[in-house]
Amino acid sequence: MRLRYYRRALFLPFLASIATMFFVFLSLQTFSVVRVTPYYQGIFMGNFSCDQTQSTKNGTIVTSNMNVQLRNITKPPEIPMIYVITPTYKRPEQIPEITRLGQTLMLVPRVHWIVADDALEKNKLVQEYLDQMGMPYTYLLTPMPERFRNKKGAKPKGVANRNGAVDWIRNHSTEGVLYFADDDNSYDIRIFEEIRSTREVSMFPVGLVTSRSLSTPVLRNGRFEGWYDGWMGGRKFPVDMAGFAVSVQYLLKHPKATMPYSPGYEEDGFLKSLQVEIKNLEFLASNCTKVYVWHTRTHKNALADPVLLDPRYNNTNLQVLKKSLLLKPRATPRAS
Ligand code: UGA
Ligand code: MN
Repeated sequence: MRLRYYRRALFLPFLASIATMFFVFLSLQTFSVVRVTPYYQGIFMGNFSCDQTQSTKNGTIVTSNMNVQLRNITKPPEIPMIYVITPTYKRPEQIPEITRLGQTLMLVPRVHWIVADDALEKNKLVQEYLDQMGMPYTYLLTPMPERFRNKKGAKPKGVANRNGAVDWIRNHSTEGVLYFADDDNSYDIRIFEEIRSTREVSMFPVGLVTSRSLSTPVLRNGRFEGWYDGWMGGRKFPVDMAGFAVSVQYLLKHPKATMPYSPGYEEDGFLKSLQVEIKNLEFLASNCTKVYVWHTRTHKNALADPVLLDPRYNNTNLQVLKKSLLLKPRATPRAS
């Protein structure tokens, strides 16, 4: 009898403590101290987008679409943000390239992807791809100025794009690291952890550059001795676009730094304008003994044959699929 009474007396405090624990747990959840929500569940909650238009120094109009998301906010803030700058332009391979690079970047924490399109208007397919990725990005329109587009010979590919993105970083960021990642290269995700702690300017090997298949600083016993690259071209920094990273703090200390519109000399000109000193370079990838990025090229595909426009395909899936293709203009029927 006494035992049963004793049990009942214990039961109420037991219930009360369970309720208190539950309440404490709920409040910790609310204030983000304990998170049991799956990593990706929060992504769509804190998501907002907005468009902006602004003029840049080189006169290009930049339209951006920001997508700042909860994933970015809830990640531990102590690791530096990497701003990956990717020039891109409309062609049959554009979406496959953006997909491949995008899915590499999804494996890397604290990345803000700046996709700078050499175009006068947004590509809906690029926008849609970026939107569904669930990572912070900015989509810029950074067309190549007409005077270069209409010029014969080598064109300054991706320069307006990179300068537009650098301007964006100057206006929106105070710290982190920037890296120029062309849309057609191949990246081992270890390169991003290598560059994350860049203090000023870091450098590392790039594979598949020129007939030597390699571009890299040359080190002897860890000390800089020169450069290995198939084309020196009288450059002070004979390096590939994918072979260096710059800290945002260092960039901001050099407000005049810009990439020149000189084919072949873009990297050299940019690094010179940053007043980089060779003695301060940070050599990464185990003293430049590892290749974590390759200057791959993608086979150029012809525009698609427009046979799927034929009325016999009306009301089929081909009518939806055609929106993802760049079609060859149809031959105009000959007058009889
Ligand atoms: C390399 C360098 O990465 C470029 O910075 C340099 O301009 C070029 O060599 C050169 O010296 O001609 P490469 O692989 O030869 O680039 O050229 P692409 O991959 O075709 O273009 C570089 C980047 O610019 C790519 O991300 C591409 O999407 C973009 N691009 C290319 C444009 O935005 N517009 C174009 O008309 C062509
Ligand atoms: Mn390329």
